[in-house]
Formats: sequence, structure tokens, C-alpha cells
Amino acid sequence: MRILITAGPTREAIDAVRFITNHSSGKMGFALAEAAQAMGHEVVLIAGPVNLTPPLVYQYIPVVSAAEMAQAVHANAPSAQVIIMSAAVADYRPAQPIRGKMKKKSGPLTLELERTEDILQSLGAAKQPGQILLGFAAESENLLAYAQDKLIRKNLDFIAANDISVPDRGFGAEQNEITLLGRDGSCRVLPLQDKKVLASALLKLILPAGK
Ligand code: PMT
Repeated sequence: MRILITAGPTREAIDAVRFITNHSSGKMGFALAEAAQAMGHEVVLIAGPVNLTPPLVYQYIPVVSAAEMAQAVHANAPSAQVIIMSAAVADYRPAQPIRGKMKKKSGPLTLELERTEDILQSLGAAKQPGQILLGFAAESENLLAYAQDKLIRKNLDFIAANDISVPDRGFGAEQNEITLLGRDGSCRVLPLQDKKVLASALLKLILPAGK
């Protein structure tokens, strides 16, 4: 099967030298890509700026901003049987990025931010019959309620609820703990473990039997 996976953060330019980003390292998405490739699947990995060596996958597409990630995802989604959105895509970007380096002035600075495209929501709205769509929900409170809301609202098949209120998991960590919610009402806890081991277990739960 062709599996499309996103990983890492995005960077949203304020000016030529400054940007808004988040603490995603790409480890979770890269672990999923390596595990899926090792299972014999064709993996298209779309990653924001990370400090990791790209795994040997069918296609590796580096991107920087949420808009670039959206473009790459939409170009590759129609040919993918499974799509996994583990990237931490920026929800907002500076409305008017400045050309060159902004000069500092006295007093506070107000930056106007605008919403980026919710890529996962667009994928859910355009989901093809039989396509499997797995989203992630990184939450610091109301984990399962917020994850369940995203599962339904974004028309997903599964959502990996990721409790980021605990320091040794989620963003940047070597390990992660996931609660996998399914559209069929299923709820499975994948306990705290190395992201590589977790990635294999997660794939086995979402891929159709025998694939
Ligand atoms: O990269 P690591 O350091 O290994 O950390 C892994 C991780 C914590 C980043 C990962 O496990 C994780 O939880 N990824 C989702 C992070 C996130 O942005 O969650 P969210 O709840 O804000 O977004 C919900 C879903 O919508 C995600 O699938 C996200 O990819 C997607 N999204 C979000 C914003 C946006 N503009 N477009 C999107 O498609």
C-alpha cells in the first residue's frame, strides 16, 4: 500500500530571519515512516524542518511552512491508501511577513496572525472510499474529549490522542504514549514506550488485516 505520513513542525516566517514554530522533532513521524517501509509499504514522507537523517523511504519531501506542507500533502493524497498526519502543523502564521530583516523600535510590537489551512480537515472532507485517515491530537487537557471531537469533526477513521501535559512523552521525547480512538468506538491504549516500537504497534492497529 502507499502510505503518506507527515512529520515534524512547520516554520512560519515573521521576516527574513525570524519565524514561529513548535517543539516537534519529527521522531514520531519518522518512526512511523521507518516502520511502514519495513513492513513493505511504499512510504511518502513529508517533513517540516527537522534535525534527523531521512529514512530510506519511497519518497521523501522536505517542506518548511504549513502552506508548503498542505501543497505537498494534497498532491500526494489521492494516490495514498493510508494517510497519517503526525506533523505539528502551525495553526497560525504572520499575516504579512516582512521582506528582509525587521528593524527593532522602542515599545511593544504587535504581530497579526492568520489561520493556516487545517490540512487534516481538508483531507477528511475529500476522503476517498476505502482510504484510511489517521490524525493526531496533541492535548494538554481534556485529552479524550478533544480527541473524540477531532475524530468526528474531521471525518477521520482513527485519532492518536497524545497527552503532552507529561514531560517525558510527546514533543521531542524518545518515548510516547498514545490512546488510539477509532470511528467504530474502539479505544486502545498503547503504553509509554520507544517511539519506534510504538510506531509498529500503531500501524498494526490501523492497517487492514493481512496488508
Ligand atoms: O515530532 P515529535 O517530537 O516526535 O513529537 C510528536 C508529536 C507530539 C508532534 C506527535 O505525536 C503529535 O501529537 N502530532 C500532532 C501535533 C498537533 O499539531 O496536534 P493538533 O492537535 O494541534 O492537531 C490535530 C491534527 O491536525 C494533527 O494530526 C495535525 O497534523 C493536524 N493539523 C493541525 C493543524 C493544521 N493547520 N493542519 C493539520 O492538518
